[in-house]
Amino acid sequence: MSYDDAMEALSSDALKLIKNNQVIGLGSGRAATSLVKSLAKLIKLKNYNIRGIPTSLQIKLVAEKAGIELIESDQINHIDIVFDGADQIDSQKYVIKGGGGALLRENILFSLASKVVVMADKTKFVKNFTRTVPIEIHPLARNAIINSIKKLGGESKIRSLDRGYPFFTENGNIILDCDFGTIKNPKTLTQKIKQIPGVFESGIFLRKPDIIYKAKTNGKFEII
Ligand code: A5P
Repeated sequence: MSYDDAMEALSSDALKLIKNNQVIGLGSGRAATSLVKSLAKLIKLKNYNIRGIPTSLQIKLVAEKAGIELIESDQINHIDIVFDGADQIDSQKYVIKGGGGALLRENILFSLASKVVVMADKTKFVKNFTRTVPIEIHPLARNAIINSIKKLGGESKIRSLDRGYPFFTENGNIILDCDFGTIKNPKTLTQKIKQIPGVFESGIFLRKPDIIYKAKTNGKFEII
């Protein structure tokens, strides 16, 4: 069974959490894409009045094509449920996000939601974080922030596209992918990162998910 099959099965189950007339936050990436496609089918089947809030142009295009009514996060002050993927999930249930560069809007939606549902395959689950942490920063604070990150024990790399062009987020900022080795205390590290002037968002989110779906290789899934 493929990743897509597992995500489809998991998305159908996650959609049981949705009720009519809700505002749903739509994360970015492959897991969120699968969820959005299943959500569009549910809305048509049940004739639900659902409004979705996209976290990126990537998911906005998917949702638009699927016919989901969309609004933006500045039009509301509460979201019922956010569904999103993750880049890594540690044993304390903290998540690293931002692999696709949408961390700023993703974290805004997490903070506004009554319920956060994260969906990921089993390769993303670790005891302690080991992957790089995406940090969205103002381009002009680049060198100062790289030095501050170094003092926190991290090695930064500016995210770039093919042929060395820097990757710009939808907010016009750049991303540092920062290697801190194994991260045993994600909360303290994040608090320190967020105090650095010019940092807009850290990929370690302090709002933990309420429900985590773990997709397994055989197409089955586990709810954590
Ligand atoms: C987007 O910036 C990310 O936070 C994604 O949610 C994350 O990279 C997970 O993506 P996949 O579901 O594609 O693995």
